[in-house]
Amino acid sequence: MEIVLSGIRSTGHLHLGNYYGALRNFVKMQDQYKCFFFIADLHALTTHPKSQDFHAGVKAILAEYLAAGLDPEKVTLFVQSNVPEISELYVLLNMIAYKGELERTTSFKDKIRGHEENVNAGLLTYPVLMAADILIHRAHKVPVGKDQEQHLEMARLFARRFNNLYETQVFIEPQAFNFGSDLLKIPGLDGSGKMGKSEGNGIFLIDDEDTIRKKVMRAVSDSGPTVPNSIMPESIQNIFTLLKVVSTPDTVTYFTDKYNDCTIRYGDLKKQLADDICKQINPIRERIQTITHDGAYLRYVIEKGTAEARASAQATLKEVRKAVGFKSF
Ligand code: TYM
Repeated sequence: MEIVLSGIRSTGHLHLGNYYGALRNFVKMQDQYKCFFFIADLHALTTHPKSQDFHAGVKAILAEYLAAGLDPEKVTLFVQSNVPEISELYVLLNMIAYKGELERTTSFKDKIRGHEENVNAGLLTYPVLMAADILIHRAHKVPVGKDQEQHLEMARLFARRFNNLYETQVFIEPQAFNFGSDLLKIPGLDGSGKMGKSEGNGIFLIDDEDTIRKKVMRAVSDSGPTVPNSIMPESIQNIFTLLKVVSTPDTVTYFTDKYNDCTIRYGDLKKQLADDICKQINPIRERIQTITHDGAYLRYVIEKGTAEARASAQATLKEVRKAVGFKSF
């Protein structure tokens, strides 16, 4: 059976980009595949979060995953730092990852811009740790958003390079996945760029209706089209991109036609968008509130997931160590 794996950094609450770009695709796959899903808490350390807040962040995000539809009876759900085999593989893969290729990674270049005071080696080798996450479970498919495409390409490169160097077949080359469609980039509400955790442009799964409506009504737009069938500016395209993921095709056609004949009122468009986001998010938010308070359930999920994840990781690492040449005396 094919293996599916994905993960999300525990840097903050889940937003619509995480949900529609990656998590929802994963949820749709949990019946047909052997699935692993994890909280990337080691990756979150690159920005030096405060230790007293760290665990609460991981716990909150676990409750959000479960509320978004991950079923721990079908999926192995775990926390990255609970599986030390990942860190060992990370060390081994670092030996075959080159400084030049890591420095050229788009995400590295983006992340260091404006953070010159904290360009740490963890940031540089971020794609190596991500490759270790994926390769340790020999995942075939990795449902992720568009921003992770290059990281998947690097995971394939490291898998290939390791297999060639050590003359082994231990690693499988993983593919980024979105049901045969292009990977998604969910835009933010600020007119340009993608929705992010720290960009101040996001709608979060924990946002209440009032907050969602206020955020959507404030989304950047313009004064409206004056020429029929004109090309949409990016800010308006972004609103339509969000509409396409949360609303029905009829709704999208209705507002597209109104845009094309210049009768659109952005207030109506935003109200519809806010209604449809709320419709989708409200049940998730309600489940988050219940699950967050169920400590025994969260513990059960993680204990079960950790045992399963470690068994799978240990099986791979055993072959990897053999290929490298480690032997006991
Ligand atoms: P992270 O935590 O930034 O995002 C988690 C997932 O959400 C997707 N995503 C988006 N998709 C579409 N539009 C957006 N605006 C948007 N923002 C985020 C991301 O593509 C991702 O799928 N490095 C990863 C976490 C990770 C991982 C892995 C993922 C670590 N190891 C192994 C898969 C496999 C990250 O920082 O994602």
